[in-house]
Amino acid sequence: MRSTLQTMNIHPCKGCDACHKSEDGECTTRDDMAILFPKLRSADGIVIASPVYWFSLSAQIKACIDRWYAFETPQGNALAGKQFALVLTYGDTDPYSSGGVNAIRTFQDICRYLRAQIAGIVYGSAGDAGAIQQQPALLEKAYKLGQKLGSAN
Ligand SMILES: Cc1cc2nc3c(=O)[nH]c(=O)nc-3n(C[C@H](O)[C@H](O)[C@H](O)COP(=O)(O)O)c2cc1C
Repeated sequence: MRSTLQTMNIHPCKGCDACHKSEDGECTTRDDMAILFPKLRSADGIVIASPVYWFSLSAQIKACIDRWYAFETPQGNALAGKQFALVLTYGDTDPYSSGGVNAIRTFQDICRYLRAQIAGIVYGSAGDAGAIQQQPALLEKAYKLGQKLGSAN
């Protein structure tokens, strides 16, 4: 079954620190992160795909990322060393005025903090659903990034 963050039930991190107080870093919030935690933990590569909403990453992906707080344990971060990629679209034509740059900077900071590898970042303007089909160069970049991720491990 195909799930997207849009249709999943993902609550914001409450900052209760229960995960950091438990031995195995278990988050006590019961929602669809129970599906994503093991997938993220076992993944070799993680692609964050988001539209720009209000000059940064969308709330859907941000809520999910906030819950990665549980991955930080005294033994290290479960996401450290993994390959990360960002795929970003925005309605404006410019990466600066759209806020795309803010989202990219956030992604870079996340990867730096996690000590994760940045496999690539693909970004561009695509306002309506399907508009990206009119941009073969951008699609090619995304395809190449997928190939790179697929051959990295
Ligand atoms: C709530 C909302 C906020 C948005 N904020 C921005 C924005 O700050 N900058 C921008 O360039 N586009 C913004 N957009 C346009 C979307 O980024 C753009 O339509 C996006 O490429 C849609 O991707 P999707 O087809 O995957 O939903 C916004 C759209 C919505 C619905």
